[in-house]
Amino acid sequence: MRRISVEELAPGMKLARDVILEDGRFLLLKGFTIKNRYLERIRHYGVPYLYVEDEIGKLEYFSEEVVYTETFQTIKTVMESVREGAGINLPMLKDTVDDIVQKILNDDNVFMKLTGIRDIDNYTYLHSVDVCIYSVIAGKSIHLSESEISDLGMGAILHDMGKCKIPLNILNKPARLTKDEYEVIKKHTVLGYDVIRKTPGMDHRIANIALSHHEHWDGTGYPLGKARTDIDLLSRIVAVADVYDALTANRVYRKRFMPHEAAEYLVANASQHFDPEILKVFLDNIAVYPADIIVLLNTGEIARVVEAKGTMSIRPKVMVITRKEGPPVLTPYEIDLQEKTDVFIVDILS
Ligand SMILES: [Fe+2]
Repeated sequence: MRRISVEELAPGMKLARDVILEDGRFLLLKGFTIKNRYLERIRHYGVPYLYVEDEIGKLEYFSEEVVYTETFQTIKTVMESVREGAGINLPMLKDTVDDIVQKILNDDNVFMKLTGIRDIDNYTYLHSVDVCIYSVIAGKSIHLSESEISDLGMGAILHDMGKCKIPLNILNKPARLTKDEYEVIKKHTVLGYDVIRKTPGMDHRIANIALSHHEHWDGTGYPLGKARTDIDLLSRIVAVADVYDALTANRVYRKRFMPHEAAEYLVANASQHFDPEILKVFLDNIAVYPADIIVLLNTGEIARVVEAKGTMSIRPKVMVITRKEGPPVLTPYEIDLQEKTDVFIVDILS
């Protein structure tokens, strides 16, 4: 780590410490990779010096991982400052969401990696990033316009913003919630709507996503009990992304659902909650195994996913490369999980 002046700061450098303004607000968090457009903003705030990692970032600082980390840090900063009573830093958030939207619009195979363990402190932030990514992929799949996808991404990343206004002892309660506590949690929809609506420059449709993402297709949701197409399309997309991500995330206290298990669960237990067309888009495009990930099969074989496009990928073709136990695999061999129906994926290893 080394201390440098703002004049020395260059794109690709990684922050080694949080950048805190004189009034105590966080400007950028540790781990953030500096981009061109942030230089001016940092200068504007009059930050005298910063701490950066010794190794200057490689030129590919616009990589998927960097965009993911940066988005996580941005939403964390935004939500923490809202919890402390400040407003939403719209320009910073918009830059970040635009990066995600552009990356997904330009590349079919991005962001399909599944995130790791989520602890209580970071759950909401990581969940917000993933819901944003899934929603944008769904929006692209149904050919929404670029400006609608942009609103969708922004609304999706902010969908649980109202949780910043919920007391932490209820939000993070490790035990089952009482009926009254659950009623408090449900208010995050209206509270989020209010915060977003009051942010200058934010489209009403974005605020509406925070309000309506727990409405159900059959009218059994909250807060208004709206049904079917009375619920805005963007909110119907975020509703599926929200539940799909909650199921497939690794939590400290339970193992995640595999994509095919989450898909089965959604169809069996909750299909009446979702717009059937949107649910189908999810099952076809998102609840899939991305190519190149390493999976464990029920047979104890460890394999790489070799084909993962479209509806087939819920049971993809895999290349067995090793075994959990027993003799090594000397020559890798392929298994088509569509054909061999007694073989299935039980875990994702990387
Ligand atoms: Fe929510």
